[in-house]
Parts: sequence; structure tokens; C-alpha cells
Amino acid sequence: MDGFTPAGLLYLVATVLFILGIKRLSKVRTARSGNQLAAVGMLLAIVVTLVSPEGGVGLDWTTVIIGMALGALVGGVMAKRVEMTGMPELVALFNGFGGLASTFVAVSEFWGRYGEHMTGPPKDAAEGVVLGGGVWAIAIVLSILIGTVTFTGSLVAMAKLSGKISGNPIILPGRHLITLVLLIGGIGAGVYGTFYGEGNTAIMLVGALTLGAGLFGIVSVLPIGGADMPVVVSLLNSYSGLAASMAGFVIGNSLLIVAGALVGAAGLILTMVMCKAMNRSLGNVLVGGFGGDTSSASKGGAEEYTTVKSAGTEEAAMILESATSVIFVPGYGMAVAQAQHVVKELGEEMERRGATVKYGIHPVAGRMPGHMNVLLAEADVPYEQLLELEKINGEFKTTDVTIIIGANDVVNPEAIENPKSPIAGMPILNAFESGTVLMVKRSLSPGYAGIKNPLFERDNTYMCFGDGKAFLVDVLAELKNS
Ligand code: TAP
Repeated sequence: MDGFTPAGLLYLVATVLFILGIKRLSKVRTARSGNQLAAVGMLLAIVVTLVSPEGGVGLDWTTVIIGMALGALVGGVMAKRVEMTGMPELVALFNGFGGLASTFVAVSEFWGRYGEHMTGPPKDAAEGVVLGGGVWAIAIVLSILIGTVTFTGSLVAMAKLSGKISGNPIILPGRHLITLVLLIGGIGAGVYGTFYGEGNTAIMLVGALTLGAGLFGIVSVLPIGGADMPVVVSLLNSYSGLAASMAGFVIGNSLLIVAGALVGAAGLILTMVMCKAMNRSLGNVLVGGFGGDTSSASKGGAEEYTTVKSAGTEEAAMILESATSVIFVPGYGMAVAQAQHVVKELGEEMERRGATVKYGIHPVAGRMPGHMNVLLAEADVPYEQLLELEKINGEFKTTDVTIIIGANDVVNPEAIENPKSPIAGMPILNAFESGTVLMVKRSLSPGYAGIKNPLFERDNTYMCFGDGKAFLVDVLAELKNS
């Protein structure tokens, strides 16, 4: 441990920077500087770990430099190339790599103690010294368990989010038994291996733990689907932090313990927020016994709608001309269309005409936490116009026009009106209560949950078919010319 050595004190400074950074991330206005503070903390942590004798990793500089250069190159290229809509997959992948790194740390520490004793009894044991057991062994088991579950679970989540495998729940027969066997078997093998195992046996048992944890990660994420993915992604994020914290115990690094715990706690808080937004209990999430069952729900194809009214750009502009209050409800489609800038311009035009303009932000709109906030901040929409679900929901009743742009599930009244719906109980933005609803999307296709949205057929709804950006650009032009 690093204690009150120069390295220990600098680690303390880095920890404070992380905590201040996270605190600032809780407000959109201070988020950017919070990110910068945390990045400075991370730089400090890396430099101290590399140069100080206490924190020193004991690797030769060539290995360190090659590793860092490769990591920076791959990370930089991926971050540069990723589309805004591909961000959730990238986040899932990064969570997974975080978990894998913790597994590597634990496995390499374990190998350092046991690898040389692969044949014959461990030397230390022969000398009467206990080789395994203790906090170290528990940390090894937890680090490998949580790290590997995070890795394989995140890969499955990424494949689901990117559509490489079906986003619907994939239910294996006897999955509860399988998960139980994998979990208990894996932990049992790991604990026995690290406490009592010797040489080859210990290595094989820890191998069994790694394999069991990897399969457990896959089997527990496969059955989750539909609208439940946000909860899983944030839970995996929390797991990646816990795994890092355990890896900190393994190598006796206090900063890693604290930084991992911060990520774990922040991820868990986010998971709770997501659970609330999805009307799920955390208990449900933890046993993995949840998943959008859309089998009994209508699939929401165009053929299911009979009384849909539509409005073109000219008509939509005419409706807006007489509006004195407007709420924008952005969703995933706004990200796809990259319509955030024209949304902001349309908002400004409406304000110029004397209307009040607000934005209703649902906690799971889009495909990642804060997705809409990020896009609207990029377009410089004033923060005070962005209102969360609880704050905006009372305002729809007194609003003339709600413009829903590429949102679908988060405004679906099925959630409150149909107790059998897969999204039943999920709090929604009550856009249907406003005077007129302009629903901008390309077709009658369903959203992420894959179900029908009765809002399309409401008397006060006009479907505005088209790409979100192209449609609003034309509406704005019509308004400016009127
Ligand atoms: P969705 O319900 O997924 O609906 C998005 C809509 O955008 C689609 O119906 C689509 O209709 C439309 N769209 C796509 N491209 C468009 C374009 N270029 N222009 C205009 N519209 C376009 O989105 P939502 O309301 O934001 O809800 C989010 C859903 O994702 C929830 O079910 C949530 O649980 C889930 N989810 C959220 C997260 C997080 S953390 N936010 C993570 C994973 C999953 P058309 O095809 O007809 O255009």
C-alpha cells in the first residue's frame, strides 16, 4: 500500500480531482469542466504510477510505451470514427474492456504466485508459508469474476445494441439453473483454487472460474431485451468499476480501489435512475429475470394503424404559426437524423415569434444515458430550457404544440393505458395531452421496444413523415417565409 509517501499523497490529490470531477458531471453546465478535472486526475495517477518507486509497475519502459501507444491509437481511431448513434455500443465495449483489464491484472498476479509451481508442490508451501487465502485470494476471485462477467456481458450487450444479434430476449431452456450452476461452480472453483489449491490444480480451478464467469456473463445478458437494455448497460458500467476496485486490492493500489469504487457507485446510482425510468426494481435486474416480452404485444407494423392523419411541411408550419407555447420531445431519431441544430434554430424562430419554448427530456430517450442532453448541448440549446420528465409532465396540458422528433417509446401512452403492454408502468412524457402533436418520423415503424404506439392515431396527432432534419429544415424555411 502507498500510505503517506509522496506517491500516496499525489494519489490523494488525484482522488480529490476524480470526486470533484464526478460532482461537476451531475450538472450539464459544469459537466465539461468536470470531465477535464477528472482527466487531469487520471493523468496525474498514470504519471505517479509509472515513475514512483511505490506505485511503480515494475515493467520496462519499452513495454509501457508500446502498450500506451497502441491503446491511444486504437481508442483515438474508434472515438473519431464512431457515429453519435453508435456511441452506446462503444460505451458498452469500453465497459467490457475495463472488466477484461481487471481480469488480466488478477490473472497475472495469480500467475506470478502460482505459475512457477506448475509442477510439484509450491515451494513456499513446502517451507510452511501459506501461499493462498486471505484478502488477496478473495480479491483475485472477485476481480476475475466481476471483470469477466463485465467483459462477456458487455460484448453481448454491444451485439444487441448494434443489431448483430436480435435485440429481443433470447431465452435458453433452464437458464436460471444454468446461471446458478455457472455462478456457484465458478466461485467455488475460484475460492478453493486460491485458498487451498496448489500448482497445477490451483491454476485449473482459477481457469474454471474464468470460464464460468465468462459464460455467466453471456447467459445472463442474452435474455434481456426490448426496452430494458439501458438498465443493463449502466449496471455493466457499475460492474466494470467494481472489478477495477477489486483489482486495486489485488495489487495493493489505493487509487485503483477508490477510482473503481467511484465508478461502481456512480454506475449503481445511474442504474437506479434507469430502473426508476423503466419502472423496474433493482432486484429484478440483479437476478436477471427480466426482459421485454413482446410476444403478446402487437408488433406495431404500419398495417396496424387505420386512422392516421398526416401533415406536410407547409401544414406543420401553419400549425406552428399560431402556437404560443411549444415543447420539443427529442428521441433516438433526432440522433440518427443529426437534427439537433435545426431543432434549436426552429426553437429560436418560435421564440422570435413570441412563443415559449421548452424541451422535454426522458431519462432513457435515445440509446444511452444523457444522449439527448449531449446532442442539445452540442447545438447550444440553453440548459434552462431542458426539463426532465417530472418537471415537464405537468406542462403538456397547457401547451399548444408538442413537436416529437424521432421519439417513440418514451411518448407511448400504452405504458399508462395498457397494463399488459411490455412497457406498462414505464413513466412517459405525456405529450398526448398537448393541444396538437406533430410526430416527426420517417414511417409508422415502431421504436426500440418494437410495439404499436396508439399516439399515432390520436385526434390531436399529425404524423409528419420524413427524415427529422430534412423535415424541420423545410418547416423552418416555410415559417421564415410566412
Ligand atoms: P425509439 O422508441 O427507439 O424510437 C425512435 C424513432 O426514431 C423510431 O420510431 C424511428 O421511426 C425514428 N427515426 C429513426 N431515424 C429517424 C430519422 N432519420 N428521422 C426521424 N425519425 C427517425 O426512441 P426513444 O423514444 O428515444 O426511446 C428510446 C428507446 O431506446 C427506449 O425503448 C429505451 O428503453 C431504449 N434504450 C435506451 C437506452 C438509453 S440509456 N437511453 C439504451 C438502450 C435502449 P422511423 O423508422 O419511422 O423513422
